Amino acid sequence: MEQLVVINGSPKGKKSVSLKFVEYLQKKNPQTAFRYFHVAQDIRSYSRNPESWTALKDALEQAQGVIWVFPVYIFHVPAALMRFVELVREKGLQGAFEGKYTTCVSTSIHFYDNLTHDWMRSALEGLGMRYIPPFTADQADFFHPESRRNLEWFFADFQEAIRERRRVERRFAPLAAPSWTYTPGPATEPVDLKGKRAVVVVDREGPGTNIGAMVRRLVSAFKGQVDVVELEKLTIRGGCLGCMKCAFDHDCTYADKDDIRNVYLTLLDPADIIVYAGALQDRYFSSLMKLFVERRFMRTHYPFMKGKQVALLVAGPLSQAQLLYDTFDADVQVCMGHFAGAVSDECGESAALDTYIDTMARQLTRYAQAGYLPPDTFLGIAGRKLFRDEVWGRYRFLFQADHRYYRKTGFYDFPQKDWRTRWQNFLLTLRLMNPKTRRQMRNTLSGFMVKPLMNELEKM
Ligand SMILES: Cc1cc2nc3c(=O)[nH]c(=O)nc-3n(C[C@H](O)[C@H](O)[C@H](O)COP(=O)(O)O)c2cc1C
Repeated sequence: MEQLVVINGSPKGKKSVSLKFVEYLQKKNPQTAFRYFHVAQDIRSYSRNPESWTALKDALEQAQGVIWVFPVYIFHVPAALMRFVELVREKGLQGAFEGKYTTCVSTSIHFYDNLTHDWMRSALEGLGMRYIPPFTADQADFFHPESRRNLEWFFADFQEAIRERRRVERRFAPLAAPSWTYTPGPATEPVDLKGKRAVVVVDREGPGTNIGAMVRRLVSAFKGQVDVVELEKLTIRGGCLGCMKCAFDHDCTYADKDDIRNVYLTLLDPADIIVYAGALQDRYFSSLMKLFVERRFMRTHYPFMKGKQVALLVAGPLSQAQLLYDTFDADVQVCMGHFAGAVSDECGESAALDTYIDTMARQLTRYAQAGYLPPDTFLGIAGRKLFRDEVWGRYRFLFQADHRYYRKTGFYDFPQKDWRTRWQNFLLTLRLMNPKTRRQMRNTLSGFMVKPLMNELEKM
């Protein structure tokens, strides 16, 4: 009998929606044995209790394949699942996963599920697993016959890959290891924040990385209020539980039982500049930084970085981790801030890194003082439209706080409310029914588009 291990990365454990997709597959395939491990919900036990791993290791030994099932949580897998992957490495258990065929099943509203799955793929390839493309569902797909057919086909193909020992190509090369020590040179004249506030959120410091020295250099490059949040020093009870209690009024179930809410309220909210600093782990920061980012879901879909300047300070080969860059770029844009880029120690030379960090401090200050917010790219624009439609649409009953905010601030910019454009479209469509007008229009279309801009320029 074929045996599969299912690693459930939803903090909701057996109540996970994503898990139901795998349970559906189990019903359809009674000849296959599925063994479930709710690693995100039980992450404390996996962290502290070595016996928790025994059953998993036994199951992996007998299994032909591994299915990872999880929700998308803020552009990424839940922090607890990320922590689980870290623990596999810290405990030297890669061998139990290596060479096994693996795939992923997720549910989400498709908001950056692509980045989430890329991270997961890079992590699983890092464990030496043979990766088969995932099934990325919306919760509602569960009820569509067409989606169910696709889900069944996906699973049959996964089984086929195992049987035929399909050759699969690795997409993400291993990250280069840290190889040099940064020694900051003499400080230059710090840039005056002139009343603007900066905050640096510092991840767990990886052994042998340069991030500590990089943070110190950055902080000394500013003159004015710079708060440093060292995540390792905070009291943290856990990652987001997905309980959704925040949806009605943006109030988190953890409340003040740990430090996170207070840090957001007193340091990040009033800041004009936020720098996230840490060493690369896989292609993101550590699970601790992910946990911190994820807990801001207490504000659900509220654009919490509105008007802020945000940047990254990264120890590690950033050019191999476009994923980290894209994740923050998209997040900041959707949250209506300005993603001002990233500095890493990849240059391999202390004097050059000094200059990059000093320049970053200067630029962030200049942007903040000017209130500079360049136009968003697709990442921000498309992301906000998805939120707009989901909050107005099927989740309005739940995300009431978002709905109130979106209504008040003009987030609901649906094109069907733009009566001027609708009227214009109606008239132009009517005119273009005439073949002669249509022909004329075809020949002058490029001029037609640029005419209003030319008129405006002429008036200047
Ligand atoms: C903390 C949190 C963050 C979320 N972030 C995202 C996201 O970035 N993108 C997305 O498409 N859905 C996001 N969602 C929605 C979940 O992915 C979705 O509800 C999923 O179906 C939950 O699956 P589960 O029941 O298996 O945990 C988020 C939900 C929560 C609770």
